[in-house]
Amino acid sequence: MRFAVPGQDVNREPFNDQIPDFHYRSSLMQTDRGYKCRITNIVPLTENEKLFQLRILDPDERNIFRFRPGQFLMLQIPGYGEVPISISSSTSNNEQVELCIRKAGHVTSALFEARMGAHVAIRGPFGSSFPMEEMNGRHVILVAGGLGIAPLRAPLFWINDHRDCYGDVHLLYGTKESSQMLFTYQFEEWEKINHISMHTIVEKASPDWSGRTGMITELFDEVEIEPDNTYAIVCGPPIMFKFVCNYLDKQGIPMNRMFVSLERRMHCGMGKCCRCMVGSTFTCVDGPVFDYWSVMNLKEAI
Ligand SMILES: Cc1cc2nc3c(=O)[nH]c(=O)nc-3n(C[C@H](O)[C@H](O)[C@H](O)COP(=O)(O)OP(=O)(O)OC[C@H]3O[C@@H](n4cnc5c(N)ncnc54)[C@H](O)[C@@H]3O)c2cc1C
Ligand code: FES
Repeated sequence: MRFAVPGQDVNREPFNDQIPDFHYRSSLMQTDRGYKCRITNIVPLTENEKLFQLRILDPDERNIFRFRPGQFLMLQIPGYGEVPISISSSTSNNEQVELCIRKAGHVTSALFEARMGAHVAIRGPFGSSFPMEEMNGRHVILVAGGLGIAPLRAPLFWINDHRDCYGDVHLLYGTKESSQMLFTYQFEEWEKINHISMHTIVEKASPDWSGRTGMITELFDEVEIEPDNTYAIVCGPPIMFKFVCNYLDKQGIPMNRMFVSLERRMHCGMGKCCRCMVGSTFTCVDGPVFDYWSVMNLKEAI
């Protein structure tokens, strides 16, 4: 069954078998504009991950800042450097930009020492995005492994903001241990208020975990898949999205209806320095969001 959405031709077949030309690339959204920000809140999530809420200082700049789900920013920590980070907030929230950050090395460790009120800067937004409008009227399966929930929050918020436009929405989320599960405080809201079916699993159970144990693909036994009418967004380590996308492929979901976010070391974020290249593709401007068909055709992408 397809869901009728005002203005949409439900009989339209939006895909063909050709390699898509990165049609969801939103180059108009790419700017090198910098914004000074203040850290307004820091939410500790786990030992190594925090949610940073930033407010763009200039009210006019705050009003013009727009992004699409799946895009990323370059976050500058004065005196330390700049790192690419996915935007993890709602596109409809003009007041704050949320970034979920794992302490990895030089720059992110410096940020973890920052207090509320500290000043940082952002540049962007950059890159391609998830084709949320194209998914209108369809079921959506979101699959996140570990920190992969960070880039998934923006499409999740988008779906929540336009809930009537989508069919069944499932969020499958897996981590190594329950202590690494992020945003658990929002699960109830996503499930009860936003009608998103939540499915969680951990690889290694601890005494406090009463849920399922195993690999994320095992969660698919809780989901009835209508392959002709379903899109998938998959974020997490490449080994995970390879297993997940191959499973969904076997279920009959076309590869050009599965979207993944690729991470590479980045410097400029704008297709100038070539640091993020995979073959002749710039991960920063052609990606980070690619459909799985394109990823399979990119040598050494995964
Ligand atoms: C498009 C994009 C979106 C991202 N979104 C997020 C996010 O939402 N939250 C988040 O915590 N991180 C995200 N990252 C990863 C983040 O950019 C790196 O963790 C960060 O650059 C590390 O910087 P550092 O100076 O702290 O560490 P460094 O001192 O530079 O490195 C520490 C360790 O991390 C590894 N590393 C650094 N950058 C990357 C990378 N891009 N991919 C894989 N390994 C890397 C290094 O090899 C090294 O082992 C994203 C990366 C990209 C490209
Ligand atoms: S990060 Fe410089 S070209 Fe992509």
